[in-house]
Amino acid sequence: MSLIIPLTDINPNHTKDIELEPELSLFVKSSQWPQEIQALFFDFLYSNVEHASKLNLLFSNTDFLHQCIPLIAYSELIESFIIIYSDQTQEPPEPGEPGSVLSYFRSYGYGENVLCSDCYGQLSCSSCSVEVHNGIPENKEPRDEEYDMLDIDNEKPATEFSRLSCQTLVGKTPLILTIRKPINS
Ligand code: FES
Repeated sequence: MSLIIPLTDINPNHTKDIELEPELSLFVKSSQWPQEIQALFFDFLYSNVEHASKLNLLFSNTDFLHQCIPLIAYSELIESFIIIYSDQTQEPPEPGEPGSVLSYFRSYGYGENVLCSDCYGQLSCSSCSVEVHNGIPENKEPRDEEYDMLDIDNEKPATEFSRLSCQTLVGKTPLILTIRKPINS
């Protein structure tokens, strides 16, 4: 299950329909998302009981969480949040490393317009780069080859949070991600 939420669909004048679990609130607040993006995501949660409840459950119960790791992304290019409730019993094999962030995006129906993969996960481009703004991937540290590709990215110059999504494996924690907009777009 997944959903995409354009920022224009988020109502900032919501009533607070649900309380958020402290673990969920803290995870968002301690992320590297800018304050305005955090605030918009909270606006979405407070006005959407279904998804706030689902995330509350996952953040407060590790048994459920280990079956369904949420990937929570903000795309600068399409100005939307994307939430993927990744089924950990069915690891997608490709593109890239099995169980990579990119493979989950593709298996949940998100294409090149959301997350590029010019070399189809062969570690020979950097179009699939994302920033990991909270959470711990299974492979916490990039390999040298991944650093090399990130270093030559002129469209999305690397920061300390940058990873190639085709090489970054979903681990045991939720992830907060940002899909940056190329500087010339
Ligand atoms: S898709 Fe080319 S390195 Fe990830």
